[in-house]
Amino acid sequence: MLSWDDYDEGLDQPTPVTDAQPAAQAKPAQVNGALAPVEAAPAASAQPMPSAAQGGSAATDGDAAASAVVADLDAHRRLDADGSAEAARESYERVTVDQKAMINCRADLNQLVPFKYDWAWQKYLNGCANHWMPQEINMTADIALWKNPEGLSEDERIIVKRSLGFFSTADSLVANNLVLAIYRLITNPECRQYLLRQAFEEAIHTHAYQYCIESLGMDEGEIFNMYHEVPSVARKAEWALKYTREIADPAFATGTPETDQALLKNLIAYYCVLEGIFFYCGFTQILSMGRRNKMTATAEQFQYILRDESMHVNFGIDVINQIKLENAHLWDQSMQDLARDMILEGTQLEIDYARDTMPRGVLGMNATMMAEYLQFIANRRLAQIGLGEPFTGVKNPFPWMSEMMDLKKEKNFFETRVVDYQGAASLSWD
Ligand SMILES: [Fe+2]
Ligand SMILES: [Fe+2]
Repeated sequence: MLSWDDYDEGLDQPTPVTDAQPAAQAKPAQVNGALAPVEAAPAASAQPMPSAAQGGSAATDGDAAASAVVADLDAHRRLDADGSAEAARESYERVTVDQKAMINCRADLNQLVPFKYDWAWQKYLNGCANHWMPQEINMTADIALWKNPEGLSEDERIIVKRSLGFFSTADSLVANNLVLAIYRLITNPECRQYLLRQAFEEAIHTHAYQYCIESLGMDEGEIFNMYHEVPSVARKAEWALKYTREIADPAFATGTPETDQALLKNLIAYYCVLEGIFFYCGFTQILSMGRRNKMTATAEQFQYILRDESMHVNFGIDVINQIKLENAHLWDQSMQDLARDMILEGTQLEIDYARDTMPRGVLGMNATMMAEYLQFIANRRLAQIGLGEPFTGVKNPFPWMSEMMDLKKEKNFFETRVVDYQGAASLSWD
């Protein structure tokens, strides 16, 4: 609880005197996230601060250094990162909607409004309305069940351990890809605002998995190293990581068809495949467990995460389609073929993971049913980015998953349940 009393304490104390920082420690100013070259105004041109002069006291060395830094800021305002006065003027002009773009935009990225991409801002607001924290869920029943030798079958234990093993590092891969690869290349503030929210949600998801692993007293080394040590988990992580490596190099820049397509590949890899397909076998398995009244707290954590992930996938699909709309030349036949191949590869990797984690039927499902479900989802992902559905005649064998996170009406799901979703106690397995 905040209290103003805290701010009253120490008012009678003398203000501590600190040494002024020498001017040499002043760092280059930043313009649009890029470091501007330091072309400081000559120190001799720095004017004494009026307050010091008017106050009748001599300027100290610290005042002179501060004045030099202030004068330097104005010098930077006249130059952009390349030292171009014309570009610098652009970066300080009021931004218009027409100047905004998904990629390769040079307009000032610090002006959120006027909005151009209302859908991104709306998703940011929806994400904030859906806020939750892992500690809100009581893990007691799961701890008792997990520690009871008769509580779960060996096949059920494999599913819990593999799911926590995959997800505990997968959400970290997503978060790192967001902040180290995607963020700086998406050049409008509305989408960046959502990316910041998504990055925090990924941190909450990693926190949730760690909270489950710690609560259940699992071997943390075994769980967190599955993405190195268990082939069906490691292949999925490696498949995604190669797309991060392609664009995470600080020297990488968009602006050519090849590099713009590299960014598009990364977005398809993470939003359509990693978050859009790789999460679905594990989610279905754990939620099926919860429906059978087993590991209900862990399942509740997964249900909250699934709802967040549904929003992440929707956002990513919108980003991909908007980039296509603004840069039609990037979506040529070879790029479409590549996107289709990537989604088919991801589907195969997830089917392999299903076979590895379900050597026998368990929880009313088996690897064959899961393969059909994954093909159903792959059809959906391909259709969402404008490509044909390759798996004909497949149906959703787990319609209850659609009720939890309706694949056809994902937006409606949040519009109708935002209020319910604001507290952890509101989830229901009905
Ligand atoms: Fe996540
Ligand atoms: Fe996500």
